[in-house]
Amino acid sequence: MKGVVLAGGTGTRLYPLTRLINKHLLPVGKYPMILYGIERLRQAEITDILMVIGKQSAGLYTDFLGSGKEFGVNLTYRIQEEAGGIAEALELARGFVAEGERFVVLLGDNLFMDDLKPFADSFVRQPEGTAKVLLKQVPDARRYGVPVFDGKKQGRIAKIEEKPAVPKSSYCVTGIYMYDTAVFDIISQIHPSERGELEITDVNNMYAAEGRLEYDILEKWWSDAGTFESLHEAGRRMKGVIP
Ligand code: DAU
Repeated sequence: MKGVVLAGGTGTRLYPLTRLINKHLLPVGKYPMILYGIERLRQAEITDILMVIGKQSAGLYTDFLGSGKEFGVNLTYRIQEEAGGIAEALELARGFVAEGERFVVLLGDNLFMDDLKPFADSFVRQPEGTAKVLLKQVPDARRYGVPVFDGKKQGRIAKIEEKPAVPKSSYCVTGIYMYDTAVFDIISQIHPSERGELEITDVNNMYAAEGRLEYDILEKWWSDAGTFESLHEAGRRMKGVIP
């Protein structure tokens, strides 16, 4: 299995710090945010990893991470020129994964304590052409993608509502996704949303509409570090996670 870490985007919610440096390089404990996702992939024995980064601070990624050798992984880099959405960033992984191969996608600002291995192993047993998202129960789901569960098929999601005013469940769709190369055909079928981005939720909803979106639930701590509050909490929680 391969890994893809998406670290494009603008990080506007962390202005003015992100005027200076890309969001995913901000400090979380002793390390830049981006290293935690890479370390989770390595622990799950996923060492061939594509980093999709923006133009901002691009040189700093290679200054810190280099080829990945020091961190036990093999990194490839691709640049997303503009923040055209998560699905647009994911499209850049076309060609990095071989036809029929499966891969794990992490949003670079997602930090979590669970081990990815059991989830990746169960995804490998899913039928070809299906996808998996990892969910987490949260106190306020309104700022996330929120799953509506399929009442008839256990383990399936009927649809995802992006940042709903009235969430239909207390779970959020985290930025941890699993696909095979069928996802690239799906990305080529979606259109930019009202905010002009190719949305990952539209991609996942195409799977859901066909009954092909499965899920697992994270049990340990998870957060996206996209706001100052969550960034500070992440610093406290992730302390010592990487020695
Ligand atoms: O963190 C989980 C949430 O992430 C999900 O619940 C939502 O369904 C999903 O849409 C996403 O929502 P956000 O509003 O938090 O996404 P954001 O625009 O902050 O982007 C999150 C990461 O995705 C960011 O750290 C880097 C990557 N990204 C984003 C954009 C817009 C890219 O690589 N390129 C992009 O163009």
